[in-house]
Amino acid sequence: MSSMMYEWFPYPSRVVQSKSDLEGFGLWAANAMGKPRDWFLGKTVLELGCGTGEVAAGLGLFGARVIAVDLSFSSIEKGLGLKKKYGLDSVSFVQGDLFLFDPKEKFDVVLSLGVLHHTKNPRKGFGVAVSHVKAGGFVCVGLYNAVGRLRLRWKRWLVGLLAGSDVKKRMETAKKLFYGGRVPPKGEVYLADKFGQPYESYHLVEEVLHWFSEERLVVTHSRPALENHLSWMQIKWFLEKRGAFFVLTGKKN
Ligand SMILES: C[S@@+](CC[C@H](N)C(=O)[O-])C[C@H]1O[C@@H](n2cnc3c(N)ncnc32)[C@H](O)[C@@H]1O
Repeated sequence: MSSMMYEWFPYPSRVVQSKSDLEGFGLWAANAMGKPRDWFLGKTVLELGCGTGEVAAGLGLFGARVIAVDLSFSSIEKGLGLKKKYGLDSVSFVQGDLFLFDPKEKFDVVLSLGVLHHTKNPRKGFGVAVSHVKAGGFVCVGLYNAVGRLRLRWKRWLVGLLAGSDVKKRMETAKKLFYGGRVPPKGEVYLADKFGQPYESYHLVEEVLHWFSEERLVVTHSRPALENHLSWMQIKWFLEKRGAFFVLTGKKN
């Protein structure tokens, strides 16, 4: 899990020009959880793997008290920059490992978007997330889908074959193979996240639903919405070139 990669290329490093940009990132996460923005007023939120902090900042602007944790110092630096610039007094950014972090309180919401599939043990990480949520609170995780991501998996396999696990070599190789030798329009941080990272895991919706039921969480929302035939739904995500990333939210009773 090349931990240096997110030091060199803190993700997602979104363009933020105003508070309303940050609110947009908060709204994305609120929608993914199936909650309106007002719902966050007065709630406590723990974000595990906050990256550069745009979602945490957005939820802070909706009136939540947020603790946002990430392994990457440079990502946390960027989060702290947002906090300072936009006066986000209710948002704390903390550098740390989600597997070791001890917040000494339970939260209304524990969020982890696009993080656990970059760890050695996503299932254990999910258990950690659940352990920090209050009874009646919500856990929300976003993961790469094993089927929806097949196209990219194949490209990453090729990159791995040619460039091994060296982050910068992988990025150079991906640039040559897929972007005519140039940085893709979405930028270098995107290239790093998609191809530089030597390891990532992939998950079937069925598998993650099983994690929820093992932890006695009731699934309350899914993005994309779940359909009756889960296998066919995931094949459609692949065929329609969407849904490589899915977000499930559940309630702890
Ligand atoms: C793809 S980024 C996702 C960032 C953000 N959640 C988002 O959705 O844009 C993955 C993040 O997980 C962080 N991460 C990976 N393993 C971690 C761990 N064990 N503890 C805390 N953060 C971790 C990385 O540093 C990186 O910032």
